[in-house]
Amino acid sequence: MSEMEAAGSRKAASPGEGIVARIDELGNISEAPGQLTRYFLSKEHRAAAECILGWMREAGMRARLDAIGNVCGRYEGDRPGLPCLMLGSHYDTVRNAGKWDGPLGIITAIACVAELNRRNQRLPFAIEVIAFADEEGVRFASTLLGSRAVAGTFDESVLNSRDRDGISMRDALAEFGLDPDHIGAAARARRELLAYVELHIEQGPVLEAEQLPVGVVTAISGATRLAVTLAGMAGHAGTVPMALRRDALAGAAECISAVEQFCHTDTGLVGTVGVIEATPGATNVIPGRAFFTIDMRAASDAHRRKAVAEMVRRIEALARRRKLALQVDVTHENRSVQCAPWLKRQVAEAIAAEGFRAFELPSGAGHDGMAMVDITDIAMLFVRCRGGISHHPDEHVDAADAAAGARVLLRLIENFKPRDVA
Ligand code: GLV
Ligand code: MN
Ligand code: MN
Repeated sequence: MSEMEAAGSRKAASPGEGIVARIDELGNISEAPGQLTRYFLSKEHRAAAECILGWMREAGMRARLDAIGNVCGRYEGDRPGLPCLMLGSHYDTVRNAGKWDGPLGIITAIACVAELNRRNQRLPFAIEVIAFADEEGVRFASTLLGSRAVAGTFDESVLNSRDRDGISMRDALAEFGLDPDHIGAAARARRELLAYVELHIEQGPVLEAEQLPVGVVTAISGATRLAVTLAGMAGHAGTVPMALRRDALAGAAECISAVEQFCHTDTGLVGTVGVIEATPGATNVIPGRAFFTIDMRAASDAHRRKAVAEMVRRIEALARRRKLALQVDVTHENRSVQCAPWLKRQVAEAIAAEGFRAFELPSGAGHDGMAMVDITDIAMLFVRCRGGISHHPDEHVDAADAAAGARVLLRLIENFKPRDVA
């Protein structure tokens, strides 16, 4: 695929560079100059969607925005209306994100379709590329909104959730030009899909340590996210003696240390407190209220559930001892998901056919496949990440590795056999 149309970018000299050029282009669509932040239903979401729609059309696809703001492109097979092999990833980001998490899978899939189109090659199945509008779940504290809508598992109650500015998802959808009462229209039927395959930056250091550009994902770890509020008593920083205080932030600090210590002593478990807010938030006022989040993950669901229950017990004990009122809400619970053996085998064969060792690794990060598995079998292909750095502006993939990923994905598409013939 040396002549693969440089990911559609005419200026780039190689397929890898073409992918990098588009990663940079999408990476510049951000709410904050100099750093990448692109949230669901923002004006940057709209601009990125327009950009992806253009790339899909240029690659010979019919492209549209669906009822939740996913960008959907379709390349027909050797006759119209055939079930599809669905490829894709997400185009929302975390705050101050890296450029590769999500867009790499979208841009590479479009590049593969562009190459098939250039050769005028049609397959005995359709290919759809989907760019999911929300995977990270940063704006509304509810993840996988785009893929859940496609899988038909979108929970309508999240429409009432509000972002940091108090805007409800319902209003944000309407403002974007989408109808919050018709999210159901984004759902796809099981019979329309043969499989969902996602290419994604690894976001960890394993492939780099193995000196491999690509790897086959075995399973995606489950995750639980909690929102914790501690309420004590605000007061004067100069007059209230230490022994008489009910300082909510000091309580939260102890909880955060407890999360870290607990996860340290339990192999295979990871726990993160990523958000903390204290009110009223003044130097000379004892914090009366503290809010923080906990994200806990493990490869096995039983392990994660047991650990979360134990962590909540410890936080309850801590709050009792400090006479703080406690509220713990589960904001997100995702089971771990296995990649389908028949599909994993085809990913491994494509990797081997491109001359690499087919190395298997699990995914600690969440992905849209966790939702897509409700309507079809899923598989994932990881591309090496420099230094294992992700959810950070230094996130990086070498152009040569991006090109290797594109070659493997194209090989997989060309050799793809649906489950009943695989
Ligand atoms: C998504 O990137 C997640 O794993 O939180
Ligand atoms: Mn991602
Ligand atoms: Mn991410």
